[in-house]
Formats: sequence, C-alpha cells, structure tokens
Amino acid sequence: MIDLSNIVADIAAEMAAAPDRGEVASYIPPLAAIDPARFGMAIVTSDGECYEAGDAGSPFSIQSVSKVFGLTMALGQHGEALWRRIGREPSGSAFNSIVQLESEHGIPRNPFINAGAIVVADLLLGRSEPGEVLGEVLRFVRTLAGDDAIFIDDTVAEAERATGFRNVALANYMKAFGNLNNSVDRVLGVYFNQCAIAMTCRQLAQAGAYLMLGGRNPETDRNVVSVQRARRINALMMTCGHYDGSGEFAFRVGLPAKSGVGGGILAIVPGTASIAVWSPGLNDRGNSQLGSLALERLVQRTGWSVF
Ligand code: DON
Repeated sequence: MIDLSNIVADIAAEMAAAPDRGEVASYIPPLAAIDPARFGMAIVTSDGECYEAGDAGSPFSIQSVSKVFGLTMALGQHGEALWRRIGREPSGSAFNSIVQLESEHGIPRNPFINAGAIVVADLLLGRSEPGEVLGEVLRFVRTLAGDDAIFIDDTVAEAERATGFRNVALANYMKAFGNLNNSVDRVLGVYFNQCAIAMTCRQLAQAGAYLMLGGRNPETDRNVVSVQRARRINALMMTCGHYDGSGEFAFRVGLPAKSGVGGGILAIVPGTASIAVWSPGLNDRGNSQLGSLALERLVQRTGWSVF
C-alpha cells in the first residue's frame, strides 16, 4: 500500500534541505525576483483524493505549462487540421530556438516549443479579439480546476511583452513563411498573457486530471477530449514537454510532463495521478531543478512510470 501523505511530506522535507536549487529565470524580471527556497507539490489521484505539501497553495507563473491547455483548446476547435501547421517531433533545441524554422519552412517542430505555442495562439485567435480568447482560456482552466481564483498576472505579462524579443522574432519569422494568419502583435498578445497565468500546485494538478482519466474532467464529469486525444497529448508531453531535456526527463522520471520557466511541472500517471510540482530554480535546460528531482523521488517510491 502506497502511503502518499507520507511520501509527499518526505519529498517536501528533502527538497527543503536540497543544496543545489538551480537558477531562477532571469530573462523575465518578475520571475527573477521569486525566492528559490519555495517548493510545492500536489497529487490528485484517480479516486479524487489530493495529497499536498510545502507551498502547494501558493500561486506561481505556470508559463509554458499553459501550452498543454492551449493545445487542448486548439485541437478542440481545429481538430487534426492543426497538424498541417505544427509538427509532432521533439526539437532537441532550446525552447526559444529559431534555427529549425528556416529549413523547415516556418513549421515549428512541436506545439510545446515557443514557436509551436505561438502558432497555437494564432489558431485560438481565429478572427476573435485577443481579450476574448484569453477570457476563454481562463474559463477553460478555471473549469478544469473547479476553481475561479485562477488569474493572469499582469505584471508578468507586461514584463514578457517588454522582454520577449525572441518571441517577436519567432512570430515574425513564421509570419514571413505564411504560418500566422493574425498580426504578430495580436498573436503575441494571446501568447504572453497565456504564459502569465498564475495557478497553485493544487489547481494545476486538478486542471491536469483529464489527462490521467482518458480525457474526462472529474470536476464536471464531462469529457474534455477523447481517450485517443488524451493519449496523444500525453505522448507529446513525454517526447517534447521538457524541450532539449525531454530525453533526460523520460530517463529519470518516465512520465508525460510539461515544464515552464516559472519552475512548475505538470506530470501525468495515466489512470492513476495528476501531479503538479513547483520550485522556481531551473536547470540548464530551463526546467525546474527540484521539481524534476522531486518527481524522480516520487516515482522511485511509488513505482509510477509508464515504462
Ligand atoms: O516565451 C517565453 O519565453 C516564456 N513565456 C515561456 C517559456 C517557458 O516557460 C519555457 N519553459 N521552460
């Protein structure tokens, strides 16, 4: 019998004492100001229990973890046609890399690198206004989490806009290839704000629960996506969710997961658990140093792995 309450408490205590906490993201100023001592973890299980420890109730910037929710929405609206504009292969490059776009005609390798998520933002926009789309994205994550307290952190969004030169370059480059329908400004308006969504570990684990339950959201008891689509999103999280660190993460943890430069990771144990961890210090691939270690310890103690 796995005693998750004890395991989560043990891991939080181990992480509190960890000497090497990584480096907080410095290129988005409000993220650089977050205390690297923070650590939170929440596990929502298929029987509806929630186990949590540390700062599991503190909101943090989910950043690229939001790309999972953006992709889910865009697939719902555009179906398989989405894959004409975005690939499904790991890039092996940094999350904000531009290099493959030149030889690959402006088609991003996958929806989880920045270039891919920018195309997803364009798909979500369609002919709507950025404010409407952001309202829909917020409503979606609030419904998934069963919690209306989720918000967009305007300070983070503004800082992203002020410093997002690489994203501006990526968007312009893809626009030149004809892979954005909307103006760069409108698309990035959606992208920057979506990355600035703030959630707690508890909310994030709950919001990800549909990916553990074959597409069914336990809060509403409704299908968010089909079983096949949930499997495919998990497959993309496994192969591309940690950018050029995806292989190492699969080797160490063995779960579909998506990271963000705010230090959050959403990890899925299909059929069993949805897990959110947060620790703001990052490793050299831009993924949470202690979040990855905590998940490694968790799978060692529970035997949870898709392999
Ligand atoms: O576009 C950016 O650079 C950030 N808003 C998000 C990047 C991110 O979270 C990459 N993750 N590791």
